[in-house]
Amino acid sequence: MMRIAIGSDHGGYGLKQELLARLKDLPYEWTDFGCDSEESVDYPDYAIEVAQRVAAGEFDRGILLCGTGLGMAITANKVPGIRAATVHDTFSAQATRAHNDSNILTMGGRVVEPDRAEQITRIWLETPFEGGRHARRLKKIEMLEHAVMDSKKAGSAL
Ligand code: RB5
Repeated sequence: MMRIAIGSDHGGYGLKQELLARLKDLPYEWTDFGCDSEESVDYPDYAIEVAQRVAAGEFDRGILLCGTGLGMAITANKVPGIRAATVHDTFSAQATRAHNDSNILTMGGRVVEPDRAEQITRIWLETPFEGGRHARRLKKIEMLEHAVMDSKKAGSAL
């Protein structure tokens, strides 16, 4: 069963509750890493937690919700191995799975209505990666990640 880590800040909390209620019966295993109310919190705390767990293979996919979806994606994409996509339309939901093999979906609770967010999430969860030429492109992103990590290591040795 696909294991999904979900997290939000206060701006995405309401949408997270909606999605969990609407999607809990699908054959996925959901783990909610907070936050737990609309009290103001810092989105990087939740993005880092979920992104690191997905990158470590503890979860197959992650879903992160904040006011815009943007801060969550900016943060999550700093973690090597993470391909986080902010999606607010159904075409991109399908394309970012088929072409980018995105492993984290981010959305903004102040941007999308719950009905649209549910539609986007279902499509994103169900669409497989196409591979082929897209795998070649992901390899280039992975090579960039390795180059950045190696240059950091070289820098720390100086
Ligand atoms: C919080 O006010 C807001 O900045 C946050 O939810 C998110 O939209 C950041 O990108």
